[in-house]
Amino acid sequence: MKIKSLFLALLVCACQSSQISTTREPEVGPLGEQAMVSSAHPLATKVGVEVLKNGGNAIDAAVAVKFALAVVFPRAGNLGGGGFAVYRLNDGSTGALDFREKAPKNASRNMYLDEAGNVIDNLSLIGHKAAGVPGSVDGILKLHEKLGTKPLAELIQPSIELAYYGFTITEDQADEFNEKSEEFVEVNGPDFFLVKDQLWQAGDTLKFTELAATLTQIRDRGREGFYGGIVADQIVKEMQSGGGLITEEDLKAYNAQWRNPITSSYRGHKIISMPPPSSGGVAILQLLQGAELYDVKAMGHNTAETIHLMTELERRVYADRATHLGDPDYYDIPVDMLLDPEYNKERFSSISLKKKTDSQEIKEGEVEIIESVETTHFSIVDPEGNAVSLTTTLNSFFGCKVYVKGAGFFLNNEMDDFSAKPGVPNQFGLVGGEANSILPEKRMLSSMTPTLVEKDGKLKMVVGTPGGSTIITSNFQVIMNVIDHGMGMQDAVNATRTHSQWLPDRILIEERPIKPNVIKGLEKLGHVIERRKSMGRMDCILVRDDGKLEGGADYSRGDNYAEGF
Ligand code: GLY
Repeated sequence: MKIKSLFLALLVCACQSSQISTTREPEVGPLGEQAMVSSAHPLATKVGVEVLKNGGNAIDAAVAVKFALAVVFPRAGNLGGGGFAVYRLNDGSTGALDFREKAPKNASRNMYLDEAGNVIDNLSLIGHKAAGVPGSVDGILKLHEKLGTKPLAELIQPSIELAYYGFTITEDQADEFNEKSEEFVEVNGPDFFLVKDQLWQAGDTLKFTELAATLTQIRDRGREGFYGGIVADQIVKEMQSGGGLITEEDLKAYNAQWRNPITSSYRGHKIISMPPPSSGGVAILQLLQGAELYDVKAMGHNTAETIHLMTELERRVYADRATHLGDPDYYDIPVDMLLDPEYNKERFSSISLKKKTDSQEIKEGEVEIIESVETTHFSIVDPEGNAVSLTTTLNSFFGCKVYVKGAGFFLNNEMDDFSAKPGVPNQFGLVGGEANSILPEKRMLSSMTPTLVEKDGKLKMVVGTPGGSTIITSNFQVIMNVIDHGMGMQDAVNATRTHSQWLPDRILIEERPIKPNVIKGLEKLGHVIERRKSMGRMDCILVRDDGKLEGGADYSRGDNYAEGF
């Protein structure tokens, strides 16, 4: 059962080989006859591929990849965060798991406001008070319990070894450790082990020995190895040392929830996505219902006309998001209404292709946005045709930056995804309403959108990405890139992305190829354009018409890596 060190060495060597060079530019992504894994880090992908080659199913691989990302991709892969998974088995049955963090029992509506009722800067973002009760471990164990076939110990062992023996970091990772060093020191003190005298460099070896011990606890004791015993004590002690709210009782009470995926159709395809407390599923289905009212193919890929249409759809859908969406266990979310084609036809009927609508006309508000590619996603298809789409997050890079002493992992700052004060934006510039206000044990609204696409009763695509509020629009575009614009998976992922979200009232366009007349055309329609370096880090899989699986990983935006066999 124990993976031999040779396997680990092979993983590390393979990771450094030219086949994963970030300079490769395939038009077609890696192809697999039977299976494919696409994730944010080559080592995590390889752990998943190995599980599948050893006869594990897509769920087994998802469990192994999730734990591996907690080690090799610590900025977003996590034990101290949460996420969502949507799966589709080869018999066509589907399911959705909500392992989103919850507000601690001692949380309260105005906990981030000062006496004058204003939001206190950074309180929901940095430090112990920003952390919600972590859901990742309960979620991944529930997924395994329901659908896994391999023993948990076999799936978690590669991650224990990666944490214990170490792995070499990429340039992207070195940069992010260096960038965050001040915040690491501010929150964890001057001796924090991720802050060195010299700067981190690509190729440095990183070990997480405390994390290896925590993973061993989970391997040997399951849920109790994290939500009870020594690890729970370490979390509670950490909370007490910094004024955090999570208690032993919160950890014991945490419970991931099975939910019914939401579905809608798009040009003869069935789209299967995550229900609330994700806003992403509802939003992407609304966007696709809107796009279907137009001949997007004839309008062309990334033309001014198409970007204008997407923007007009997005401003209406994000306004709905702000008003109606939150935790369904606490608020009556009108999902049926929002997914009713008649509602959406009416909602989008005010769109003109000749001029932009002013967002202020749709609903009032004035907000700023800070960009983020945080969070992480992976997609898996196994040789039997089972598929998993899983997005997981600490919210910001390294969450609230609190590293649980002794336990070796970062805690999330997911409390910022609540509306600390209705009408005041969070770090993504997203405005929320009453549906997303803070209550004890409530789940905060999310944009994470793990999604599957079916055609003629068969799996067609597995898609997802990080990116905060841009998650929804990146997924929207990648699905249209394949279905409307006839692209393969890698091309669809490579394509320049745009984003708008009701407020602020402007369009973000990546600093990637776009015809100059497109920007002029959009400005003529009244839009304000801003360029952004990149948005999202997608990990997707396409079942091609010839039956082969094509991976589409954002290798040119991040370290993302797809591999199949
Ligand atoms: N924390 C980002 C999201 O859940 O959308």
